[in-house]
Amino acid sequence: MEPDRLNSPSTSAITVEVLGHQLQFSQDPNSKHLGTTVWDASIVFIKFLEKNCRKGRFCPSKLKGKRAIELGAGCGVAGFGMAMLGCNVVSTDQVDVLPLLVRNVERNTSRILQTDPSSDSFGSIQVEQLDWGNEDHIRAVEPPFDYIIGTDVVYAEHLLEPLLRTLFALSGPKTTILVGYEIRSTSVHEQMLDMWKRHFEVKIVPRTKMDSKYQHPSIQLYIMSLRPLIVSDGNLPGAVDQQTDGAETEDEILKEDKSGGGIDMPDGGMSVEDEEVAIKLPNGTLTDWEVRRYGSTAARLLRDVKIT
Ligand SMILES: C[S@@+](CC[C@H](N)C(=O)[O-])C[C@H]1O[C@@H](n2cnc3c(N)ncnc32)[C@H](O)[C@@H]1O
Repeated sequence: MEPDRLNSPSTSAITVEVLGHQLQFSQDPNSKHLGTTVWDASIVFIKFLEKNCRKGRFCPSKLKGKRAIELGAGCGVAGFGMAMLGCNVVSTDQVDVLPLLVRNVERNTSRILQTDPSSDSFGSIQVEQLDWGNEDHIRAVEPPFDYIIGTDVVYAEHLLEPLLRTLFALSGPKTTILVGYEIRSTSVHEQMLDMWKRHFEVKIVPRTKMDSKYQHPSIQLYIMSLRPLIVSDGNLPGAVDQQTDGAETEDEILKEDKSGGGIDMPDGGMSVEDEEVAIKLPNGTLTDWEVRRYGSTAARLLRDVKIT
């Protein structure tokens, strides 16, 4: 197997084809920072946007000029997808990640504008520092936003509360929150869903609505909006009493799906154990994406093997 087919420590760039453009995201998986790696949920997210942008809420005519913010952007894949569909995006992360993020944003923006200088579907994208829970950073980006997005930002228990606080502080009554992430810990996953369901209408994107190749049972996409009436519980300084007019809470993508092809998630999650059972190695050649995913599953299984 060629070494660059896995997202290995020596893979310095990930190429993703989106809407006919070869986007290239530099990464540094050797750094001690998680944000310098392109995570698979971000690829699932951008390919989901590509698949659903012909009609409905993600088509450029609906997104043109909308304000979007990406939290924990890392190499910037998901936010770049929203900019390609016309949004004015603020791509944010912690300070250590920003130089790589700026490089990726600049390189891909000039790539798109060079290929199609007259393209008016591309919105804009700027990079800012935003540490979750930091009120100065939050004020500086001028909330509220139409869209708040994040991929693979849910992975550690101690980050759940500052992330939720930040989502509140950046939201208005009509904000839509799009989150994509890979379930690595069922306990963090359950806590997150518990917390979010208390404050948001949470909808799971069925796998039939994702790109047929760029998906995986352990990677889920959620579409959320504030519940019509949020009563602040005092623990979340950003939370305010808000009323939605209901206009944005019905999601066309989810309404359209009558096939029942979604993930069976009776109470918020397919367990990691189920996922391992569901995976069968096919015969024959693997695509790059399959290689990445089998590598990732193997790494997770190995992590769980206790050597005594
Ligand atoms: C697993 S990486 C995901 C990166 C990128 N979204 C992707 O999917 O490829 C998690 C990201 O969250 C960011 N992050 C973690 N804690 C944060 C915090 N307290 N404030 C802001 N960003 C944070 C990290 O810097 C990192 O970029």
